[in-house]
Amino acid sequence: MNLIGKKILLGITGGIAAYKACELLRILQKRHAEVRVVMTEDSTKFVGQTTFAALSNFPVYIKNSGDSKSFSHIDYPRWSDIYIVAPCSATSLARFASGTGEEPVSLCFLAMQGEKWVVPAMNSVMYNSPAVQRNLETLRSWGVKVMEPAIGYLACGEEGAGKFPEPEDIADELEFASVNTNKTLLITIGRTQEAIDPVRYISNHSSGKTGEAIVKEFLRNGWRVVAVCGPMEAKLPKQCEKIEAKDAESMNKVVLKMQSQAQVIVHCAAVADYRPKQIAPQKIKNSKAIQKLGLEETPNILKNTITNKKKGQKIVAFALETENALENAKNKFKNCGMDILIVNTAKGFGKDFVEYGFLTKNNSSVNLADGSKEELAIQLFKEAND
Ligand SMILES: Cc1cc2nc3c(=O)[nH]c(=O)nc-3n(C[C@H](O)[C@H](O)[C@H](O)COP(=O)(O)O)c2cc1C
Repeated sequence: MNLIGKKILLGITGGIAAYKACELLRILQKRHAEVRVVMTEDSTKFVGQTTFAALSNFPVYIKNSGDSKSFSHIDYPRWSDIYIVAPCSATSLARFASGTGEEPVSLCFLAMQGEKWVVPAMNSVMYNSPAVQRNLETLRSWGVKVMEPAIGYLACGEEGAGKFPEPEDIADELEFASVNTNKTLLITIGRTQEAIDPVRYISNHSSGKTGEAIVKEFLRNGWRVVAVCGPMEAKLPKQCEKIEAKDAESMNKVVLKMQSQAQVIVHCAAVADYRPKQIAPQKIKNSKAIQKLGLEETPNILKNTITNKKKGQKIVAFALETENALENAKNKFKNCGMDILIVNTAKGFGKDFVEYGFLTKNNSSVNLADGSKEELAIQLFKEAND
């Protein structure tokens, strides 16, 4: 789900993890959502309402916060697109499951018509208790989204399930978890490493950041994403399916195996064009032997997918150029048969921006301009859906 401009009502209940809800609020704001807060009375013993009012820049809805004529319990949920209760205590879960609206968080739960999420957080024995599990099951059966708690060291000093997930992970789950199309993106990301001997390899500087931006853009638009990943610095959200492929040979195999499942294939990985003809079984000891290293071409993954292209499938490739970028890209586009070619320069290696231009079947004239990798991803999503 795209969080830009989304109105999120954040419910806070009484648990140690209430302090982590401050960070969650900030992260949601950073992802361009608007957030308002409703709190149980007990939760204000953990973090004061002043903090949440200041962070959300809006009055917090708590018991007795309005006059007797105010309809906050209707107005707050009606304002919001999503209601997420994080952390959600065992007591609040029980209220939600039994339909009790005795205080603001549960009243909003009853009055909310849109999407509802709960993030249970508690001691693992409490979490695994039949009552809590039954209540969670009831909520799931009503279509409420229940976020799995993390497993780990709990505030009470015990280990187990019930831990409040990292706020970034909660925001990722909201933003990237809902696959609501039957479309799949298959994307290669990162670089390949072509072994010379057990300790050396041929590779390049690709960081995987452009691929990361593309993965996120397709996920937030409800696509299933399968990412075939070489080594890289970028971190992909948990919500995409990751398959590791260290060298061109294995990347080629995985991509061809998965090709038939995809509506769009994006060749974003910087695959080495050449590899040593033979991998030395032991570390090569002298530089003369290195100089004699014979190279051969790696499998051409782009060409192979174009050969196997199924009806309606779109194939997107990148052309990284260090000179005559536009000229070279136009030739590649004319000769190779991909649907979209994104020409880019080495300026963007490892950075958040990139110098790029799009060549498509409808528009084969191209200019280079600087933009963020997110902007590139948004444009690619639009073009791929055309
Ligand atoms: C120090 C402390 C920590 C607590 N942590 C949790 C917790 O993590 N999860 C939980 O379900 N209850 C926890 N409780 C119990 C709740 O605060 C209690 O059930 C309260 O009634 C919850 O009410 P509420 O849902 O209206 O906020 C804790 C209580 C105390 C005193």
